[in-house]
Amino acid sequence: MTITAGTTTSASTFHRGRRLRRTAALRALVRETRLDPSMLVAPLFVRPGRNAREEIGSMPGQYRLSVDELAREGERLVAIGVRSVLLFGLPETKDPEGSGAWADDGIVQAGIRELRRAVGDELAVIADVCLCEYTSHGHCGVLSDASVDNDASLSLLARSAVSLAAAGADVVAPSAMMDGQVAAIRSALDEHGASQTAILAYAAKHASAFYGPFREAADSAPAFGDRRSYQMDPANGLEAVGELLADLDEGADMLMVKPALPALDLVAAARAATTVPIAAYQVSGEYAAICAAAERGWLDRRAAALESLTAIARAGAGILVTYFAADAAGWLADERAR
Ligand code: PBG
Repeated sequence: MTITAGTTTSASTFHRGRRLRRTAALRALVRETRLDPSMLVAPLFVRPGRNAREEIGSMPGQYRLSVDELAREGERLVAIGVRSVLLFGLPETKDPEGSGAWADDGIVQAGIRELRRAVGDELAVIADVCLCEYTSHGHCGVLSDASVDNDASLSLLARSAVSLAAAGADVVAPSAMMDGQVAAIRSALDEHGASQTAILAYAAKHASAFYGPFREAADSAPAFGDRRSYQMDPANGLEAVGELLADLDEGADMLMVKPALPALDLVAAARAATTVPIAAYQVSGEYAAICAAAERGWLDRRAAALESLTAIARAGAGILVTYFAADAAGWLADERAR
């Protein structure tokens, strides 16, 4: 074969990336992002009753659990290496103020106590702090004149956080997107002897279409309007960084970006802009989309889930909140055993 100068690149002048992709061992050696089960946080829904494990229609493989089942789930997660859960509650009754959120015998408070009895400190227990699961109107704060009253909601969110901390939550995670909620919660926790309770702020939380299945799971869809007057416009990245920094300034110990895959740029920006742990929430719609496509045979569930989680970690999240947590822990163990 004659090689004419100028028409063919000589072998030594181009980059041979394939050299390091040739075998599984080489690929493992140069892999930049590794998932570990200890990065995973399993979101769980707590409901009234005993022995109840009720599957959520829009989220196959996810359940509303009674407190005894929650404890069993906690033990199962610890056994497979998942070290953290994020709790949401389905109260027996709802009212305009969302009083179930701060009731001492509230559903999540009861769930935390039962979990502690079962697993002690083996699990880091994170409790979501919001009113939408507890208000009869489904908004994340209290209403005045049919709009969500920011400042009137702050004391209720703070009260909820104090109550969840008293029940034994290690971390409270305010997700209501009320301005000043992190500062209000931090000072209430400190005043009530909970200075060791950490805050994971849902700092950059978009008004996202991907929360749809969650609202069915938690029965928390707003009865009127939407959440766009408090959750962020997904078009705004600079504003998201502003929200992250504001929450840090108010006393957040960790920051969360939500949703995850539609906001990977914000995960990377959060990582670059701060030194605190960064979490990303692969939300219900991200989970449901992968599950639904897999059910139709259009996606490989395991591969699509692990690729997504790896991408979220690569973007800069060290904490991955995901409904795939238990499955992913199993898949990772399986890969290690190979
Ligand atoms: C509460 C809250 C929501 C989610 C987490 N916390 C619902 C919402 O904001 O409407 C969504 C989580 C998910 O979709 O998995 N405000």
